[in-house]
Amino acid sequence: MLLLLLACGGSKPDPIARARAFSDTRPTYEQPLGDGLGGVPGIPDLRAQTCGVCHQEIYEEWRTSVHSVAWIDPQFQEEIKKSGNRWLCLNCHTPLRLQQDVLPVGLEADDVEKPVLVDNPHYDAALRDEGITCAACHVRDGVIHGPGLGGTPPHPVEADPDYRSAALCLRCHQATATYPGKSFTCTFDTGEEWKAGPYDDEGRTCVDCHMPPVTRPAALGGPDRTVARHWWRGAGIPKIAGRYPPPEANPYGLGLEVALEGRELVVTATNANAGHMLPTGDPERKVFVTTAFDGTPAHTEVFGQEWTWEPPTKHGDTRLAPRESRVHRVPVPDGAKAAVVVARSERMSEENRAYHHLDGYPIDVETHRVELPIE
Ligand code: HEC
Ligand code: HEC
Ligand code: HEC
Ligand code: HEC
Ligand code: HEC
Repeated sequence: MLLLLLACGGSKPDPIARARAFSDTRPTYEQPLGDGLGGVPGIPDLRAQTCGVCHQEIYEEWRTSVHSVAWIDPQFQEEIKKSGNRWLCLNCHTPLRLQQDVLPVGLEADDVEKPVLVDNPHYDAALRDEGITCAACHVRDGVIHGPGLGGTPPHPVEADPDYRSAALCLRCHQATATYPGKSFTCTFDTGEEWKAGPYDDEGRTCVDCHMPPVTRPAALGGPDRTVARHWWRGAGIPKIAGRYPPPEANPYGLGLEVALEGRELVVTATNANAGHMLPTGDPERKVFVTTAFDGTPAHTEVFGQEWTWEPPTKHGDTRLAPRESRVHRVPVPDGAKAAVVVARSERMSEENRAYHHLDGYPIDVETHRVELPIE
């Protein structure tokens, strides 16, 4: 009996090997970024806090970033609860196998909502809570990959040009796929939007805008170098109180100009600063520009996408391409004394917040307010 059990135990294929074999048959956006198994020689574990002992400022910045809350984000937690395709989400929100409680090793009837899952014996729940943690972007097969600093790190490093380009970012921020018969879709098109605009040609990548340069030591006690802030500020709407990068991390995308021409208010909205569509990413994001006279709203211009979900279909897209300007004219009512134009950026609507039971979750931010007296 004992012998038989041992024999069974011994012949059981390693879950990690099975998960790798399955992933290899899937498109890249359905694969994790790596395993994280076996750690990195020279450092005790892969926790962000451990890296932060030496990379203190980088750690503090990352901690305020949305990447660090990609798992604990209340909206993500609400959505993933309902999801039969959970394994897909984990690959981008907790992208190392070490962070995943169960691993997909196949699909029943080739259905992405019926994964064959096995328990992961190496699962590290604390590391999972760190979402897109340092190791997810930097650790590959026990070696720390980076832009190539030189110096004398206490851990093995490998210089990799992907860290100065958009390649690493696009691994998660460029993924568009439909799943026939399903009510969900992958709609991350930020990479293609950026390639279609002027910034790619000018050599300005995601990293240049979202990880602005600063001169300081890269590690405690090291020499001053030009390094990259680890902030990744987006639309300016926090997810968790006290954990969002400061305004100087990245400007708002919108530029807003307002002028009075006769009896018309001329409002010019420009995608002045975003290297891709404004807004980009999640199709629920919208920018509203509302004109009011003496406190009474007169017109709202909406920049965003319109979708229905059964099946996922895009019906409209009024977003602003990089550097695109669009003008709208609002007639001034007789007797009006003052105009106020307010721009607001929204992550999700009030209705969707209620639907997801996310009371108190921040969903928008006022980005611009222009006040104009009317003679
Ligand atoms: C979303 C991916 C991502 C995450 C998460 C991330 N980094 Fe980075 N890191 C990068 C990229 C990209 C660069 C290269 C930026 C450049 O040089 O232009 C970089 C550069 C670095 C460098 C070299 C110095 C510099 O700033 O250029 C160090 C050190 C570093 N990261 C440490 C960390 C630590 C520690 C954490 C976690 C607290 C972390 N990184 C999290 C993507 C990431
Ligand atoms: C005991 C201190 C220490 C710990 C812990 C540590 N590092 Fe480093 N790391 C360094 C030093 C020192 C350098 C070289 C810095 C320099 O010369 O400017 C470095 C360099 C790097 C680089 C740049 C590599 C290159 O040349 O492109 C990255 C990226 C990096 N570390 C990431 C990490 C990550 C991720 C962790 C945690 C998993 C970590 N480090 C843990 C001390 C440490
Ligand atoms: C492993 C997948 C992954 C990689 C690699 C990655 N991201 Fe992200 N990024 C995400 C996810 C997931 C979110 C959203 C998390 C959430 O909202 O819960 C996000 C959010 C963001 C945001 C929005 C922040 C906000 O304020 O809402 C920006 C900006 C961003 N990433 C830029 C980058 C850049 C630049 C790179 C390359 C250096 C990069 N990302 C690499 C997955 C990734
Ligand atoms: C020229 C600078 C610039 C470049 C290049 C750029 N971004 Fe952005 N990005 C911005 C600005 C500014 C915003 C804030 C937009 C806003 O106000 O909503 C933003 C917002 C975002 C957001 C948040 C979602 C949203 O709608 O606000 C994500 C995600 C993002 N960028 C990812 C990327 C990725 C990935 C790349 C590379 C393919 C990239 N960005 C290239 C400037 C840039
Ligand atoms: C291909 C990588 C990828 C996969 C797979 C993925 N996400 Fe994301 N997710 C992202 C990126 C990138 C963002 C940031 C873009 C943005 O915020 O607009 C994001 C943002 C989010 C957000 C925040 C949206 C917002 O408006 O702030 C939620 C919630 C979310 N994802 C849930 C999920 C769920 C649930 C799944 C599985 C059904 C999933 N994601 C699968 C990459 C991915």
